[in-house]
Amino acid sequence: FVPKRLAGRKVVMTAGPTFEAIDPVRGITNISSGKMGYALARACVQAGAEVVLVSGPVSLPVPLGVECVPAASALDMRAAVLRALPDADVFIGVAAVADYRPLQASEHKLKKTGEALSIALTQNPDILAEVTALPAAPFCVGFAAESRDLDAYAEGKRRNKRLPLLVGNLVSDGMGGDDNTVVLYDDAGRHPLPRASKAEVARGIVDHLAAMLPPRV
Ligand code: PMT
Repeated sequence: FVPKRLAGRKVVMTAGPTFEAIDPVRGITNISSGKMGYALARACVQAGAEVVLVSGPVSLPVPLGVECVPAASALDMRAAVLRALPDADVFIGVAAVADYRPLQASEHKLKKTGEALSIALTQNPDILAEVTALPAAPFCVGFAAESRDLDAYAEGKRRNKRLPLLVGNLVSDGMGGDDNTVVLYDDAGRHPLPRASKAEVARGIVDHLAAMLPPRV
């Protein structure tokens, strides 16, 4: 039995990596598997929410009851999020969005020239920062994956992006595998959750999130 703590709420979320094309066969991506985001989408549905999951390229089955919108690049992901956002009560950014993309993707396959090759990169928009800045912003939850100094970097990201709640994890603990160790950061401080399967961790995040949501009007 799962208490329906998110009944009547619409949750829009992102998960997985993004893929930033260099040419028709190559691109820049990262090692996010999508497992944490998909587990959280499932936990939100089990808690009674309507869930739109904007997903980067991953090879995972879509959880039952979740509306999945595929998106390859950060720009695709941003457009899909903005389309899904009207009426959302909650936005959760689990995706490991590429901070940079090639300035120009080549229409044709790049050829070897015997010379060194440089690819100019340009910064991607920050989807979570854009959503938090909307006049009618939903309740926003960020994630942060760090390779060191988790508390300092995660709390810094939460403050910079003015997030009520941020989920921090170490790359070595959470990226790619089936389990995770997370710390939740909010105005009341840090709340570590025990190491567990991503399904179990997701349920812990939903419980914390549901308790923070303003009452429905
Ligand atoms: O997919 P798994 O293998 O299960 O791994 C899960 C995870 C480690 C990827 C996940 O738990 C996690 O920590 N995701 C956030 C990754 C990250 O480091 O994000 P960031 O620090 O680059 O960004 C901070 C926040 O801003 C995130 O909520 C991110 O989704 C969002 N962001 C970042 C950049 C950008 N251009 N747009 C964004 O929305």
